[in-house]
Amino acid sequence: MREKLNLGRKANLMMENCPVLLSIVSSLLFILLLLAVLIRNNGQAALVWNEIVLQKITNFIMAQSKEQRILNFVLQNAVRGDPQSVVDTIDKYCSQKEWAMNVGDEKGLILDKIVEETKPSVLLELGTYCGYSAVRIARLLQPNACLLTIEFNPDYAAIAKQMIEFAGLQEKVKILEGPSEAIIPQLKKKHEVDTLDFVFLDHWKERYKPDTILLLECGLLRKGSVILADNVIVPGAPEFIQYIRNNKSFECTNYLAHVEYMKIKDAMEKAVFLG
Ligand SMILES: C[S@@+](CC[C@H](N)C(=O)[O-])C[C@H]1O[C@@H](n2cnc3c(N)ncnc32)[C@H](O)[C@@H]1O
Repeated sequence: MREKLNLGRKANLMMENCPVLLSIVSSLLFILLLLAVLIRNNGQAALVWNEIVLQKITNFIMAQSKEQRILNFVLQNAVRGDPQSVVDTIDKYCSQKEWAMNVGDEKGLILDKIVEETKPSVLLELGTYCGYSAVRIARLLQPNACLLTIEFNPDYAAIAKQMIEFAGLQEKVKILEGPSEAIIPQLKKKHEVDTLDFVFLDHWKERYKPDTILLLECGLLRKGSVILADNVIVPGAPEFIQYIRNNKSFECTNYLAHVEYMKIKDAMEKAVFLG
């Protein structure tokens, strides 16, 4: 008891004699309070906080990445060879445990509808991540159809490979590892693509416009090719949207939805190439 009193007195003395320390501590407390209020009232701030701070701490403690945890959850809880159960299990993990940048269940239904309407045979996805959308798309494909999916992060590509194999879709999905801007020009010669029926844009948003132009320059789009772009509100792809909506060679439709596993508004943009 006496020790505790002495400690308290020492702390008080330190604070009284150290106005600089006092102002630093109170400023820090104020900043923390401000952050807490901001995060509580703002979904995007909470997302940034979770992604940048909490996730790094969890990764460090568990010596494992979030993507590895998502894969492990699927390996332990989904049914091998059943793509729907893989999709549902990823959605369960990411809505209940840790947010992740998959297209998600709500926008996934828009993606499903457009794939089903288009009935594509040759598909390209830019941005594989853990393979969620690749599994989602491939589960709807006709017997001879094939999805090429591009990912430049080797760790994500390795996770996606296991995810796709677990879903039993390795014959339908081919992961091409590398940056989209380097792989798109190789699609015709190296990967025997003539033209693409369907393209899913879901990589970094500043690449949407240049990669669409690259697809055109490489002669990979034909009359009726469908481009579907995710996240056109959050994080947003304003240059792409301005380009595609003002281009008479494309007919655009916007699909309002929400950011994956959240209540924040987002949308997808469909652009049909008119030739
Ligand atoms: C939003 S995630 C993709 C999510 C995935 N389509 C899904 O719904 O399951 C974006 C991914 O694109 C990859 N990426 C970003 N820019 C890229 C580029 N230029 N080339 C290849 N991959 C890229 C990132 O590493 C990340 O894994």
